[in-house]
Amino acid sequence: MFRELHSDLWAIETPFQMIGMDMGARMTVARRSNGDLLAYAPFAITDEEEAAIREKGTVRDIVAPNPTHFTEIGDFARRFPDATLWSLSELDKKLADVPHQILESAPDSWNADFDSLLFDGPRGFREWVFCHRASKSLIVTDLGFQLPRPKTPINRIASRMNDVGVKFGPSRFERTLMKVGDKELERQNIETILKWDFERIVPGHGLVIEEGAKAKFRVAYGFLGV
Ligand SMILES: [Fe+2]
Repeated sequence: MFRELHSDLWAIETPFQMIGMDMGARMTVARRSNGDLLAYAPFAITDEEEAAIREKGTVRDIVAPNPTHFTEIGDFARRFPDATLWSLSELDKKLADVPHQILESAPDSWNADFDSLLFDGPRGFREWVFCHRASKSLIVTDLGFQLPRPKTPINRIASRMNDVGVKFGPSRFERTLMKVGDKELERQNIETILKWDFERIVPGHGLVIEEGAKAKFRVAYGFLGV
């Protein structure tokens, strides 16, 4: 489902289940000040969704932001052959059949519209994080999320076990990895993100955080000492 989050920011959301949890999956489309679009963590879309995107502008950049959100990105990229697909070096071989460029540092041209950094967590948790200034939105994938109220007892148990149902933040598994990773580097990354001007968090799963976003983000990573 294509929906507007702001006059320059849209999401496409689709059902997605993982280990008993209703995670949902979300890709984000941000419009830059020059009118071009950047698609973040996209997946396969319908013709209607493609038309809805094209109505908003020209997709110039497609970002595979972390090592797990890429499996359908080729399907998306083939709909927009003039766009540049950017991926992490870890995905170089996995995306061998899709033209792409490695994204280890943000192109200068993005700086006019986005704050961004490559969150350098434990291996497997490197993730590009963006702040879209026009919409004051922090855009992340798996760095943190909050799932909607569980619909079934199994959903409830799985959400509780992974500690993702009540408030925004990294899952229990992610927190465990972060705690054994380079905590100082992770803390610095979080401090940098907290300096950005955002009032909304748009994660790759679960709910869009529209209220108290920055305070919730700060609390979520308190275990790193921020
Ligand atoms: Fe994910």
